[in-house]
Amino acid sequence: MNIAIILAGGKGERVGGDTPKQFMDLSGQMMILHSIKAFSESEYVGNIQIVADEAYREKIEDAIFEDSDSPIAEKFLSFSDPGENRQMSIYNALKDIGDILGRDSIDGVIIHDAARPFVTVDTVNECLLALDEHDGAMPVIPMNDTVYFSRSGQKVDELLNRNNIYAGQAPEAFWYDKYLAANEDLLPDKILLVKGSTEVAIMAGMDVAMIPGDQRNFKITTTEDMERARQIIRNE
Ligand code: CTP
Ligand code: MG
Repeated sequence: MNIAIILAGGKGERVGGDTPKQFMDLSGQMMILHSIKAFSESEYVGNIQIVADEAYREKIEDAIFEDSDSPIAEKFLSFSDPGENRQMSIYNALKDIGDILGRDSIDGVIIHDAARPFVTVDTVNECLLALDEHDGAMPVIPMNDTVYFSRSGQKVDELLNRNNIYAGQAPEAFWYDKYLAANEDLLPDKILLVKGSTEVAIMAGMDVAMIPGDQRNFKITTTEDMERARQIIRNE
């Protein structure tokens, strides 16, 4: 069985406001609900685990169980505590799903940001199907702009070959046992320095496939992104 882990443990400081961005309204529905939809609709996802602070859990459950026959209500497993950084949030969820379901019963995990509401079922499925041949998989976007490297941020040191540069997105899928072990190798301190979930896999020598990403599957980071997301939904 494959398990989706939805990361909603952040504070959304760059968007600001009283409520973290993933719990704000996005065109009539809490943002996290948009982000979970594709996972609930994927035939390859068995259960959904959500990382969220206790203060928001009732609100999330109310939204999930508004329609108790919905695929989201059927697949929801439980909540995990947010960690000190994104990777610790992932680790908390990895541990919890193993405790709840039994480590041997989990094949793949697919990890997504609650702040990426436009992920599609096709992307979810492609990531999980890639696990037949790889240890992990993630969507990436090739670079269209010329890319420069600068140590100082003031002047250019080097022109990079953009044909070899990709921007990583989410969701990221991994074999559960290998990825859990890769995280445990970094405990207790090194895990706090990790920037992206695939970094952990790369450090452990896992083979991570790149699948074609989608410009629409952007992460909502600022209030401008929030407005862009509303605009996209209005134009659908
Ligand atoms: N996240 C998490 N646990 C953390 C930090 C982040 O689950 N300790 C989640 C966020 O909720 C978000 C995703 O990881 O869905 C990507 O993080 P980011 O966009 O940086 O969100 P925030 O950390 O909430 O925003 P900010 O950095 O502006 O405070
Ligand atoms: Mg953050």
